[in-house]
Amino acid sequence: MRLLSARLIVSLILGITLVSSGFSYYEVVSEKRALRSDLERRAEMLGESLVGNVERSWNTGSDKELRRLVLRFGNREHLLGVAIYDRQGALVAVTPELAKTLSVSPPTVTQAITQSHEESSFVRLGTVPVHILALPIRRQDEVLGGLAVVHDASYIRAQSLLTWRQTFFRVLAQVFLIVLITLLIVRWSITGPIARAALWMHALRTGKISFRQELPDHLDMFRPLAREVVTMAESLSNARNAAENEARLREAGESMWTADRLSVQLRTRLGDSHLFVVSNREPYMHQRNGKALDVVVPPSGLVTALEPVLDACDGTWIAHGSGNGDAEVVDAHDRLRVPPEDPRYTLRRVWLTKEEEEGYYYGFANEGLWPLCHIAHTRPLFRAADWQYYQDVNRKFTAAVLEEIENVAKPVVLVQDYHFALLPRLLKEKRPDARVAIFWHIPWPNPEAFGICPWQRQLVDGLLGADLIGFHIQSHCNNFLQTVDRVVESRVDWEHFSVLRQDHRTMVRPFPISVAFTEDDAAENNNDGLNSVDRSTLMRSQGVEATFMGIGVDRVDYTKGILERFLAIERFLEKYPSYQGKFTFVQIGAPSRTHIKRYHDLLAEVEAEAERINWRFQGGKWKPIVFLKRQHSHQEIEPYYRAADLCLVTSLHDGMNLVAKEFLVTRRDEQGVLILSQFTGAARELRDALLVNPYDIDQTAEAIRAALEMEPEDKQLRVHRMRKVIKERNIYRWAGNLVTELCEVRLDAPEDVQEKSRTNVTVA
Ligand code: G6P
Repeated sequence: MRLLSARLIVSLILGITLVSSGFSYYEVVSEKRALRSDLERRAEMLGESLVGNVERSWNTGSDKELRRLVLRFGNREHLLGVAIYDRQGALVAVTPELAKTLSVSPPTVTQAITQSHEESSFVRLGTVPVHILALPIRRQDEVLGGLAVVHDASYIRAQSLLTWRQTFFRVLAQVFLIVLITLLIVRWSITGPIARAALWMHALRTGKISFRQELPDHLDMFRPLAREVVTMAESLSNARNAAENEARLREAGESMWTADRLSVQLRTRLGDSHLFVVSNREPYMHQRNGKALDVVVPPSGLVTALEPVLDACDGTWIAHGSGNGDAEVVDAHDRLRVPPEDPRYTLRRVWLTKEEEEGYYYGFANEGLWPLCHIAHTRPLFRAADWQYYQDVNRKFTAAVLEEIENVAKPVVLVQDYHFALLPRLLKEKRPDARVAIFWHIPWPNPEAFGICPWQRQLVDGLLGADLIGFHIQSHCNNFLQTVDRVVESRVDWEHFSVLRQDHRTMVRPFPISVAFTEDDAAENNNDGLNSVDRSTLMRSQGVEATFMGIGVDRVDYTKGILERFLAIERFLEKYPSYQGKFTFVQIGAPSRTHIKRYHDLLAEVEAEAERINWRFQGGKWKPIVFLKRQHSHQEIEPYYRAADLCLVTSLHDGMNLVAKEFLVTRRDEQGVLILSQFTGAARELRDALLVNPYDIDQTAEAIRAALEMEPEDKQLRVHRMRKVIKERNIYRWAGNLVTELCEVRLDAPEDVQEKSRTNVTVA
């Protein structure tokens, strides 16, 4: 910094001196020029008035008169004197002071006589700089001689020297002042803020403050830099944590999964190959709002789960480009790198027409398969036209995947969810060398329930094109195998949980999906103090005052049991009136699939129900339910999770439910109670939650009371145990196991072909 200041000062001094000297030089030269022309002008005036008199006296032949004239002009300002010469240059009359120096006519006078016109020049007489104006003396047209008017010009030089001296002192003062002011400005607005920003970065790097802590406002000029630094510090901290983890794991001989372990695992397993993920929902949508192009992360458990996997292996995610600004940011191959602020993998967007979206997504997938697989008493709707679109779109996505894997040998493709039941077979037909798994994120019902789908055979057949089919839990696998048994010709191997159909073996396995919870999150456990989110501040921000708080976070979907939850809250307040005025439940509800009437109506029903219950109980600054009807980012939701006394997950049926896991990951303080529907996949793993049947309103009401009155030690024990489960069974383990299992599948196993030729029969 000192070296920088010295350089800055030297540069300033040189710069200012150079510029000021340039200006001063110009000033002095102009002044000199002005003084000279002033002198010339004065000499001319004098010369012209004098030459007339001289001509008159010359004509009368009076030398005496000429000398008198010469003497009369001897005492003007700066005038040294005058001299008169005859035509041959001989001196006729001269001011006494010049008698010696001008005894011979100077060249200027000689020139004026010979050329018969006025001449002027600056010369030296001895050591004195002078100006000589020479005028011809005429009689009519005849030149008789010459007149010299001589001025002392030394004052011009003196004046220039004076100006130079003044300039020197002015430059000196300017340099001093400018350097001083610049240094003060640099100190106040650059060095000082840099030092403070450096302190902030140091605190960030050393973990004294969290990555979420924003740069103070007065350091706003560094915000773009700060963003980069935060990302860098985060990467560094992740790398450091990963290294520490690795060391800890090696020491403990544990098999904990981390992002780094997953990327190593994927690299080893994939070799030269590459990972491709296919899903309907994309991880980032670009939304055009006027001039702004916003990036939105859709509310989707699938997105939450898969993002860390793609992050870990730089794969390609192929998904429907559903944002209205999506097409603006892709390259010629419809690809872009994401996450937008720190690109780590490729997103390939597939475009659908309105009709395709309507028929395939809203129609067949969400009005047909969704209610079919979730036993939540909403009747599935199966329309032949929707089925046609479903097939078309599955073909369209297959074509996109084929394009992406074109030059990749033995690619590994993870297909996601009920939107693409037909894709595994379509893909394997074209690329038998690809290893294809499909993960079904929603439940698989029993064969009777599934049997109402008119196209169940085609769906099951499409799925069996995959090498591996994953469900969240074993009972979904069982339901699926039973369905296979009933609807297609195949051989189900109950011992190894696989299906052999038309020479092809498909493994069926449970892989409970999870969230990105690693040792790092656990390490922050005891020291960050961030858990003590001020509940009343949060409540006040919603205009409510309450002592206890519950939280629910869902897409507004009829499978989530939001209405049942509200009824349980109402019942709880009825049964335990002492909690009226004290307990508020915050429901964060992201509107979802509202283009479908059932969802549209549900949103209105949820709102109306919250209003009804509020109207019944509310008083003063308290109300029982705060319904926040919009999508919230993970960052926005976190404070609510942390401040809540309890989290309610009351799905009527749910493949897994990641809200339950996210809530627990957030509770580093090991407090808070999870009330969890027994009909979620999560309930199989999180046995320390208060498990409820959401249809049993009284039971859920009792669970709310039990949660609010639970001893802190009990809460801690439960949360601690459940966090341990999630930590061990995190998303990296999910992906690691899925890919490992898929890579272990033998493609085109010869024994399967033989087996098939012996026993190609249906086990009914
Ligand atoms: C469930 C499905 C996902 C889906 C998500 C959100 O989690 O299994 O495939 O992405 O809901 O629904 P949406 O229809 O908005 O994608």
